[in-house]
Amino acid sequence: MTRENMTDEASSPADGGDPTTDEMLVETSPTAGVSESDSGTAGGSRTLVEARNVNVWYDDDQALNDISLEIPENRVTAMIGPSGCGKSTFLRCINRMNDLIDAARVEGDLFLRNKNVYDDDVDPVALRRRVGMVFQKPNPFPKSIYDNVAYGLEIQDKEGDYDEIVERSLKRAALWDEVEDQLDESGLELSGGQQQRLCIARAIAPDPEVLLMDEPASALDPVATSKIEDLISELAEEYTVVIVTHNMQQAARISDKTAVFLTGGELVEFGDTQKIFENPDSQRVEDYITGKFG
Ligand SMILES: Nc1ncnc2c1ncn2[C@@H]1O[C@H](COP(=O)(O)OP(=O)(O)OP(=O)(O)O)[C@@H](O)[C@H]1O
Ligand SMILES: [Mg+2]
Repeated sequence: MTRENMTDEASSPADGGDPTTDEMLVETSPTAGVSESDSGTAGGSRTLVEARNVNVWYDDDQALNDISLEIPENRVTAMIGPSGCGKSTFLRCINRMNDLIDAARVEGDLFLRNKNVYDDDVDPVALRRRVGMVFQKPNPFPKSIYDNVAYGLEIQDKEGDYDEIVERSLKRAALWDEVEDQLDESGLELSGGQQQRLCIARAIAPDPEVLLMDEPASALDPVATSKIEDLISELAEEYTVVIVTHNMQQAARISDKTAVFLTGGELVEFGDTQKIFENPDSQRVEDYITGKFG
């Protein structure tokens, strides 16, 4: 397997990464530079990702308008809102995928463990090792199930017992029992729901801290969706999950925090999921959630 023949949009930035800067990134100490009291907490969990006054433009069109929010560690944070309100754009700010879009311009601060990921000394390739991503449409490579999962490790020159890591990742992605006897078969022969769990296994194989999921179940049937939802809740024990969904019930079921974006790239309300769905502060949010618009 070579890097050149890989086409995963999430991992393409790893190509050609400068080895000297690949090794750099943001501090790895979880407590680097902060005390418990000033790191922020949410529902008993410390803040892992913080956006401060983030604005994004595509050429002259503003897609995100002054977004500030704190994403708690080891929790599920949902992003909801009508089409075009900037949810995917916001996700891509966290792992700097917007860097890959020529028209995109990001302003403001985005902290991962208190280190601004937009600082000059941060290498986006190294950042993406710590912030994995899963997309709406399952996108396994035309390779074996094993190689699909091992890919994330190889692209990152990660050392270790690949057999063990592949097995562990497939187990964490709740797929192992279904594929353990067919690891050499193509990932493309799996069902849509299995393919998405394979992509989740691939994303978590390098052991990231944050898992970004952009509508990961929207192309799946209800049974497969339910499996993914169960899985997301389990993943939050080890990872910080940020999920975009158009499915309000899904957001209500699986998330601890919910961010409601509305037209104009505005974050209208952010808070505990139960409060957002039962008693939001904003009338616009209530109207959106009850289906009066959007
Ligand atoms: N690559 C791009 N180039 C130019 N404009 C873009 C690009 N990506 C997104 N936009 C614009 O930015 C705005 C926000 O788009 P974004 O995809 O973030 O919305 P979204 O909330 O994820 O929508 P959806 O729910 O349909 O996925 C939209 O107006 C969109 O047209
Ligand atoms: Mg989107």
